[in-house]
Amino acid sequence: MSTVNVVLPGQWLGMVGGGQLARMFCYEAHRLGYQVAVLDPDPTSPAGAVADKHICASYEDAAALTELAGLCEAITTEFENVPAQSLIQLAERCRVTPSGEAVAIVQDRIREKEFITKAGVPVAPYCAVHSTEDLLQADEALFPGILKAARFGYDGKGQARVQSKQEAVEAFAQFGEVPCVLEALQPLEDEISVVVARALDGATAIYTPSHNQHRDGILAVSTAANPCRLTPVHEQAQAAAVAIAESLNYYGVLCVEFFILADGTLLANEIAPRPHNSGHFTIEACLSSQFEQQVRVMAGLPLGSSQELQSSTMFNVLGDLWFDQQDQPVEPDWAALLAIPGVYVHLYGKKEARKGRKMGHVTLLAPNGKQLQAKALQVANILGFDWYE
Ligand SMILES: Nc1ncnc2c1ncn2[C@@H]1O[C@H](COP(=O)(O)OP(=O)(O)O)[C@@H](O)[C@H]1O
Ligand SMILES: [Mg+2]
Repeated sequence: MSTVNVVLPGQWLGMVGGGQLARMFCYEAHRLGYQVAVLDPDPTSPAGAVADKHICASYEDAAALTELAGLCEAITTEFENVPAQSLIQLAERCRVTPSGEAVAIVQDRIREKEFITKAGVPVAPYCAVHSTEDLLQADEALFPGILKAARFGYDGKGQARVQSKQEAVEAFAQFGEVPCVLEALQPLEDEISVVVARALDGATAIYTPSHNQHRDGILAVSTAANPCRLTPVHEQAQAAAVAIAESLNYYGVLCVEFFILADGTLLANEIAPRPHNSGHFTIEACLSSQFEQQVRVMAGLPLGSSQELQSSTMFNVLGDLWFDQQDQPVEPDWAALLAIPGVYVHLYGKKEARKGRKMGHVTLLAPNGKQLQAKALQVANILGFDWYE
C-alpha cells in the first residue's frame, strides 16, 4: 500500500526551466487537467508561452522560488543545469522530483561517472582532471581521448578531442582549467539511450531503447528499437538504466545514454535527469509518453504503460533548416511533411532560427521497420538530410 499523497487534476504543478521539454510537459499536464507554473528568466521561453503562469525570473531568485513553491503542489525540472540548491530549497516547501541531491550528482561528470561505476554499470576508461598535473599523470591508454568539462556541457559543447597529453593540457587551459574528465575515445558501433520513469512508490516503467545518430555533437535522428526484437545488449541497457535510477533513489523520468562497442560491450555515457530528446518518440508511439510519466510521478499517480504501439523514427529540426546553401533564409517545407500520413511535426515556438538550435522535431510512425525506413527516407529528403540512409 502506498501512502503517497496524490496531487489531483485542477491543482498546480511547477516546472523549473522553460525550454521545449517543459513545453511538452505542459501539454501533457494540461491534458490531465493540471495547471502549470513555469520558472524561466527568458520572457520568450517555449514553455512560458503555453504555461498558465510564467514566473519570469532567475532560477536562484528567492522571491520567485517562494512564489513557485507557494503556488504549486509538486515541482519538477527540465534541464540538468538547474541550480541543485534551488531544488533543495523548493523541497522544504513542497514535493520536488527529481531531488536536488540526485540532480547534483548527474550534473557533474566526475560525480556522475563515480556514481554509475558504483551502481555496477561500466563506463569508458577515464580520469578526473582538477589540474594540469592530473593530465601529466594520466594513463597513456586514455589517448586519443576526449576532455570534457565536468559541468555545463551539452550537445558536444565543452568538449575537445585530444590526441596527446600536450593537446589535453592546451584544451584544459582553454577551458579555463575548470574540473574535467579525460575519457578514452571509444570505437563506437552504436549509441543507444533508455528512458525510465520511477514512481514515488519505487515502481518503474521502462521504454524501448532508441538508437541515436548525432551530427556535430547534436542528436540528429533517433529510431526506437522494435520491442519484439530486443537484443541482449538492449536488455542489458534497460536493466542498467533501472539499476541507476534505483541506486540514485530517483523519482521522475531519467534517460541513460549508452555506447555499444564493436565487440558488443555496453558502456554508460551519461545520465539526463529529465525526459530526453531521444524519448520524443514516446509521445506518439507509446501508450503513455515520457512527459505524461513525468506528470504522473510528481502527482503521485500510478505510472502509465510504456508499451510501444508502432515503430518510429524522430528527426530533430535544427535552425540550420531555415538557411539554404547560400545562407539565405528559407522555410522548411512543412506542407510536404504533413502530406505524409503518420508524420507528426512539433515546433517549439522559438522566434529566431539559429544554426544548431533545436527548433522542433518530426516523428514518423509506421507499422513495421520496412515501411518506417521508406517513410524516413522521404522525410529525410524533405528536410535535406542528405547523409541519412
Ligand atoms: N569516449 C567517447 N568515445 C567516443 N565518442 C564519444 C565519447 N564521448 C562522447 N562521444 C561522442 O560525443 C557525443 C556527445 O558526448 P556526451 O558525453 O554525450 O556529451 P553531451 O553532454 O554533449 O551530450 C556522444 O553522443 C558521442 O557521439
Ligand atoms: Mg550526450
